[in-house]
Amino acid sequence: MHSYQEEFHPPERLLLGPGPSNVNPRVLKAMGAPLLGHLDPAFLRVMDDVKEMLRLVFQTGNIITFPVSGTGSAGIETAMVNVLEAGDTAVVGVNGYFGDRMAQIAERCGATVHRVETEWGYPLDPAAVRAELAKHPKVKAVGMIHAETSTGVLSPVAEIAEIVHAHDALLIVDAVTSLGGIEVAVDEWGVDICYSGTQKCLGCPPGLAPVTMSPRAEEVLTTRKTPVQSWYLDLSLLRSYWSNTRAYHHTAPISMIYGLREGLRVVLEEGLEARYQRHARNAAGLRAGLEALGLRLFAQEDARLNTLTSVRIPEGVSDTNVRGTLLKEHGIEIGGGLGPVAGKAWRIGLMGENSKPAAVLTLLSALEKILPQEGYEVAQGQGVGAAEQKLGEP
Ligand SMILES: Cc1ncc(COP(=O)(O)O)c(C=O)c1O
Repeated sequence: MHSYQEEFHPPERLLLGPGPSNVNPRVLKAMGAPLLGHLDPAFLRVMDDVKEMLRLVFQTGNIITFPVSGTGSAGIETAMVNVLEAGDTAVVGVNGYFGDRMAQIAERCGATVHRVETEWGYPLDPAAVRAELAKHPKVKAVGMIHAETSTGVLSPVAEIAEIVHAHDALLIVDAVTSLGGIEVAVDEWGVDICYSGTQKCLGCPPGLAPVTMSPRAEEVLTTRKTPVQSWYLDLSLLRSYWSNTRAYHHTAPISMIYGLREGLRVVLEEGLEARYQRHARNAAGLRAGLEALGLRLFAQEDARLNTLTSVRIPEGVSDTNVRGTLLKEHGIEIGGGLGPVAGKAWRIGLMGENSKPAAVLTLLSALEKILPQEGYEVAQGQGVGAAEQKLGEP
């Protein structure tokens, strides 16, 4: 008997890592609906709904607002490849793993990339962006990560946008770990290209990267000298499919788009403000619980994400033992550190469906059992108690 001869039944997991996160059953149900052709009028209505709801969630009136086929990294590629041409100059804020990925992708577009390096655990400093821009006369685009998932740090978009526009450059913002969980106000802040991923605070499986592009960035796209290097991610071609022209580009991932439609309905039924507040409340509960266990948070205090909490692994405690036991004995996934913080920090996501008191308390209670097995003594009930108290505050 081969394993493939049996149906696959995934074990039950509480996904509290950096993503994917657990999905609302309504989304999974929507994804199981019968297929339509990608040019069927009934499917075109689904696409219109998705565009309309994405504009509400991104808080934008941008015409170019739709999901591209691919995960969050396809969002980075889309943003970069559509505005950058060989010989252009770009500035990228690098305060973690995903800032570095963004810089690498910009370099692959043939741009000269100047990195504003910031110590991991700290937000991107607007003054450092201003200083870097002052050094280079013709910067076409500045890229930054709103919510850096490798460190759990939030960076100030609106302040940086002002500086970027004073230099007549475009601002590209990665909102993969913020959209749907932390406010992203594209028009008010002056973001030119913003992208996200479906598998985090939007409560869907991985597979789509919602993207939005301002008229200013669209102008740069339409007046560029060379064709966009990636045919698949060329927004000038994709917009024909997503606009009234409905020109075939590639076969849309129909079921994923059904799922996103339902995920966005869930987000908007809750309401954006209520959703941000829920993420803030549960993250505060988690932080209180972790600190009551004597654990030290990794991100700078006033820049901590409500969607992802990074915590230092105490001296002598094995990263892999703790994460392995959490998974095997408690069915809970949390993330390890990336790059320079590998083995030194855990990353705990409370995103979308999983931003809830029960997830916070279940994890803390499991940690209270596991940490002493690693020689790190904790007073039983202390983490759970502190979290309960915080969660109970008005
Ligand atoms: C901030 C950020 N940007 C980009 C990505 C890349 O997304 P994906 O892994 O879906 O390609 C991630 C993934 O975790 C992320 O956290």
